[in-house]
Amino acid sequence: MGRLAGKVAIITGAARGTGEETARRFAAEGASVVLADVLDALGESAAARIGGGAAVYRRLDVTREQDWAEVVAFAEARFGRLDVLVNNAAILHMAPIETTRLEDWHRVVEVNQTGPFLGIRAAIDPMRRAGGGSIVNIASLDAMVGLDRFGAYAATKWAMRGLTRCAALELGELGIRVNTVCPAGGSDEMAAPFRPPGVDPVAYVAGRAIPRRASLAEIAAMIVFLASDESSFCTGADFPVDGGATAGTVLAAKPKR
Ligand SMILES: NC(=O)c1ccc[n+]([C@@H]2O[C@H](COP(=O)([O-])OP(=O)(O)OC[C@H]3O[C@@H](n4cnc5c(N)ncnc54)[C@H](O)[C@@H]3O)[C@@H](O)[C@H]2O)c1
Repeated sequence: MGRLAGKVAIITGAARGTGEETARRFAAEGASVVLADVLDALGESAAARIGGGAAVYRRLDVTREQDWAEVVAFAEARFGRLDVLVNNAAILHMAPIETTRLEDWHRVVEVNQTGPFLGIRAAIDPMRRAGGGSIVNIASLDAMVGLDRFGAYAATKWAMRGLTRCAALELGELGIRVNTVCPAGGSDEMAAPFRPPGVDPVAYVAGRAIPRRASLAEIAAMIVFLASDESSFCTGADFPVDGGATAGTVLAAKPKR
């Protein structure tokens, strides 16, 4: 409790899933949180469930410059400062490269790659005024390996790791740290529309040292750490929450049912 006391955070994509869980954890640790999303009804009720005046929902389409200006101004006006930005909002498009339409590619890039760029840019001035800050970019295991049919999505998540490094180098002198979380897991809603027949989710994780997906709580715990002063010497880095997926493969692993 209190690890984020006094801090003010904007979390994108916070109407559900990882973003919602992170907002809940942030508030429990003493932060004031702006939950930002395009799913207004879900976002409003997520903020209401957190309650206590520490959480408020605000509509933000991460692809719109004007929305970013408004949400950042709102956070400062409502809570007096901005210390933390979690670039969590993203979309998935799952298709082989051969059949990925240009418009699908552009949409994924716009939300997953341009959105975080606009967010980082919009957060610099308020974080400068606050005397520093922490920006946490939520990438994926797919930012560290490849996966068939994830070409558009994985390309944006790899790009996020590059953007993180450049931003960390540029913003270090302002006391702004920038890091990436690479989870092997998240909400079921994201992949649900694409789940193709024949993909066995148990077999998919079987070769990991810890053969399962990350829970939302495990991902949020890493985000809390990076948002807090406990990670004061961490910047420009990737933080996997992947049960050892990037360590290698356990050959003897058998799917557990
Ligand atoms: N779900 C997974 O299996 C998984 C795995 C690894 C990494 N991730 C990453 O974790 C993060 C959180 O995803 P999740 O698992 O909670 O999925 P999710 O689909 O439940 O959450 C994503 C949120 O982003 C919001 N969003 C989409 N487009 C937006 C836009 N233009 N502006 C503002 N908000 C927008 C959605 O409305 C949604 O609430 C994402 O960055 C995702 O890429 C997810």
